[in-house]
Formats: sequence, structure tokens, C-alpha cells
Amino acid sequence: MSGTADAGGRPLVIAVDGPAAAGKGTLARRLARHLGLAHLDTGRLYRAVALKLIAAGGGAADEATAARAAAGLVAEDLEDPRLREEEVGQLASRVAAMPGVRAALLAFQRRFAAAPPGGARGAVLDGRDIGTAVCPDAAFKFFVTASLEARAGRRLKELAEGGASADRGAVLADMAKRDRRDEARAHAPLKPAEDAIVLDTTELDADAVFARVLALVEGRGGAGPRRPRGA
Ligand code: DC
Repeated sequence: MSGTADAGGRPLVIAVDGPAAAGKGTLARRLARHLGLAHLDTGRLYRAVALKLIAAGGGAADEATAARAAAGLVAEDLEDPRLREEEVGQLASRVAAMPGVRAALLAFQRRFAAAPPGGARGAVLDGRDIGTAVCPDAAFKFFVTASLEARAGRRLKELAEGGASADRGAVLADMAKRDRRDEARAHAPLKPAEDAIVLDTTELDADAVFARVLALVEGRGGAGPRRPRGA
């Protein structure tokens, strides 16, 4: 298998899951570009719902407004620069625990995977539950993780590069809080799929992670990548 649509003509789907700042977004973008696939950062969907909730004056408990926002989401909503703000990320983690929101966003994500935009022959989706819930039949599933300290260090570097100053202790605490919320929720919690390949990137840079994953996708990986279904 070398990254083409399968024999039944279904799009090639690659799932990349993991906690915040583990490197999954960078990996997913590079994979998509290299393999000519569409890319969906699914965290942006939850962030876009959070942003709409803020705009509507809704609070963290306003599930009806959040679910309506999720059902009405369009691609342009994912381009708002405010999506990266910390406040939006924290609220995103709360709306992500709402079953009505998850159900509406599931449909959006599955449409994207089944009919990738731009006529692409497949898609890379990154998030928390792609391999477990959104695309359980994905040809490849990767779970990208790293120690809390390493992830907080990367987030601090990102913030510094963007000209923002941040306190290390506060970033660590916020990240730990969000991890706990993502892992503990009842619906589609953050965890590796049973057949995911787990990559700990604590000691790896982005180039090394990309090279390793590409080798697995292109069948050069040596021991044990899972076989694509139907292969
Ligand atoms: O990856 P991120 O920080 O942009 O994600 C924002 C929040 O959305 C995160 O706290 C968890 C949630 N999320 C989710 O529950 N499922 C996904 N597939 C993607 C993100």
C-alpha cells in the first residue's frame, strides 16, 4: 500500500490523534502535503463552536446553543484567527464533552473523510477521537503523544514566537487541566485506538516523526504497522 485510494475506490484516510501540542497538527499537515491528501484539523471544529458560543453570549453549560452552532458550521468558520486563543481552547474542551455537539461534528468530519474537498484522493484528519470514533476504518491510525513537560515547552515556544509572553507554570496547569477533561469525558474520550501506532515524540523532532510515519505509510516501516483494512 503506497498511499492510494483502496481497491474499492474509497478515499485513503489517515487518522492522527493525540493530546495538545504533541506534534499531531504539524505531522498531519506535512503528511497531507506530501501525499496529496486533504487535511482537517478537527480541533478547529470544536474551537469554532466555542467561538460561536462566545459570540452568542452563551456559557460553558449552554448545550442547546452549542449544538445548534455545531450543526450550522461551514468551512469558512474554521479560518477565524481567534480560534487559536487560549480562552477559545478552554471552552472548546468543554463543548467537546457535549454529546449533541459531538454528534453534529461527527457528520461534518465523516463527510470530509468520505468526499475530501478539491477532489483529493484521501484525507488526513487530526484530533482526539479520529481513530476510535470518527474513522474507525482508517487505513492508518497514529497516536502522537509526548510528556506534559515537553508539550508545555513547545506551547511556550510557539507563544514566544508569536510575540506573547506566558508563564510556564500556568501553561503546564492549563494543559494538564485540558488533558484531564479530554481523557475523562464520557463521549469519545482521548485515548489511542486499539490498532493505533503510538509514537512518543518527547525525544523526537518534527522531521524525525514525519520520516518515521511516512516510512510506515509507504510500507518501508519494518516491524509491525497495522495492515489497512481489506488489504
Ligand atoms: O487540538 P485542539 O487544542 O485545537 O482541540 C480543541 C479541543 O477540542 C480539545 O480540548 C479537545 C477537543 N477535540 C475533541 O474533543 N475531539 C477532536 N477530534 C478534536 C478536538
